[in-house]
Amino acid sequence: MELHFQNLGPKNWKADVMLVLCCEGEDMLTRCPHLDTAAPWLAVAPAMRDFMGKIGELALLHGHPELPVPRVLAIGLGQHDSVSMGGVRKAVARAVRLCRDRGIDSLLLPEPAFFALPVGGRERLLEECVCAALLALYRFTALSKPKKDIPPDPRRLSIGFADPQDSLDSVHSAARRGENTAGAVRLARNLANMPSNLLFPEALANRALEVARKFGFHYSVLDEKDLAREGMGALLAVGQGSSRPPRLIVLEHAPEECAENKPLILIGKGITFDTGGICLKQAANMHHMKCDMTGAAVVLAVIAALAGENIPRRVVGLLACAENMPGPRATRPGDVVTAANGDTIEILNTDAEGRLALCDAITYAQKHWSAAAMIDIATLTGACGIALGNELAGLFCDNDVLAERLCAAGGACGENFWRMPLWKPYAEHLKSDVADITNMGRREGGAITAALFLQHFVDDALPWAHLDIAGVDWTDKKTPLCPKGGNGFGARTLLELTRGGAF
Ligand code: BES
Ligand code: MN
Ligand code: ZN
Repeated sequence: MELHFQNLGPKNWKADVMLVLCCEGEDMLTRCPHLDTAAPWLAVAPAMRDFMGKIGELALLHGHPELPVPRVLAIGLGQHDSVSMGGVRKAVARAVRLCRDRGIDSLLLPEPAFFALPVGGRERLLEECVCAALLALYRFTALSKPKKDIPPDPRRLSIGFADPQDSLDSVHSAARRGENTAGAVRLARNLANMPSNLLFPEALANRALEVARKFGFHYSVLDEKDLAREGMGALLAVGQGSSRPPRLIVLEHAPEECAENKPLILIGKGITFDTGGICLKQAANMHHMKCDMTGAAVVLAVIAALAGENIPRRVVGLLACAENMPGPRATRPGDVVTAANGDTIEILNTDAEGRLALCDAITYAQKHWSAAAMIDIATLTGACGIALGNELAGLFCDNDVLAERLCAAGGACGENFWRMPLWKPYAEHLKSDVADITNMGRREGGAITAALFLQHFVDDALPWAHLDIAGVDWTDKKTPLCPKGGNGFGARTLLELTRGGAF
């Protein structure tokens, strides 16, 4: 669906349907007389009287088919005082899905009608509504024939402005921002949903190169020989049971004016499939593990969006990619490997592979850049999902400023993080009898020991955060903003944070 702007006032607005958000008990025409100008038939539409504005309520009202705006889809938001941005997102998404189901081709959001809504302010609301509309239409279509019973997407989404004076650059860019954000999330979802026979480390590297060419940012890749030269024994150990060798993909968005600034470094876990290795996982739902590269997908998508928008920040992305397979060459429990920082690791559980891939990327980041901050994002532990459920991701960070900014960025865009403790005493559980550290803590507090394992490799002076998205990266039952499957969780937060000038 393409984004358009209609600047010539409500008399000239034209679309198959106008979407109008409305609180309970409100008269939309009193609140926004522009609606009356755009669709004068609305005031006398009998069905208007039945619309209460209750939360979740949708009413499709029809005027004469030849009119410039022949339909209005009224969308209820519930009580004025309890309207939330999450509620607005869902309402818009449900409305857009209804339009698609009805085969409606062009949609219009009347910008002046946003003024009276009690959340977000004009620009933020527009950004969120555009983003929600585009995410609502997302489906993973790459690998199936077009289905006859599934209608095509609407082709146009217009924003209607009251007059040209109102159609300010800042408001246009807010809408464009929403569009870019949705593009980033959609890219992350497409990568996450791609099955692992088609998306293995080298294939992900090739995709990243395509994206880098399209959006214009630096790309390089370390293959298995380069990784050996860098001494990345941990990342190599994860991939050695697979016929598809590991890769470390290095991305950098460095616009000229800030090419000398200290970068923000984003590190993504890119396990293209996690069988568990020799410590094999159970069969039930194992296919979810094609999404074990969501962190890497998110980092790639965020850097693409920053480059596409020309955001004046220097951001480096590292994607630590490997396929975790059993096999004659696979790592065995008890094997000891040497990580890139020189520490030896006793691999007591081959299914705790994410931390092994990430620790070498962390070392690489610290060796090559003097960073302003470093954030890793990973589907790291089932334990995090057990602790926080499927609506909250874990945030581990011992820098209060960075933690606050991440929580705020996530909260603003509907990805919620809950701060978890880096409880030092549990580092005891990572003591090895034979090596410097082991990769497996106890079952209890498993998300914390995983975070402590990563922290072991991080310089104390560097502000660092670890985002554990294992409980939230997969949508079990379709929601208004996402069908079943990988959802690209984290892309919005990291984009929001970097746009706002994280650190
Ligand atoms: N990729 C998994 C974590 C995961 C679980 C992600 C469920 C999404 C949904 C990770 O590599 C893993 O297997 N972790 C183990 C760690 C344990 C062996 C210490 C786990 O959580 O069981
Ligand atoms: Mn695992
Ligand atoms: Zn994993």
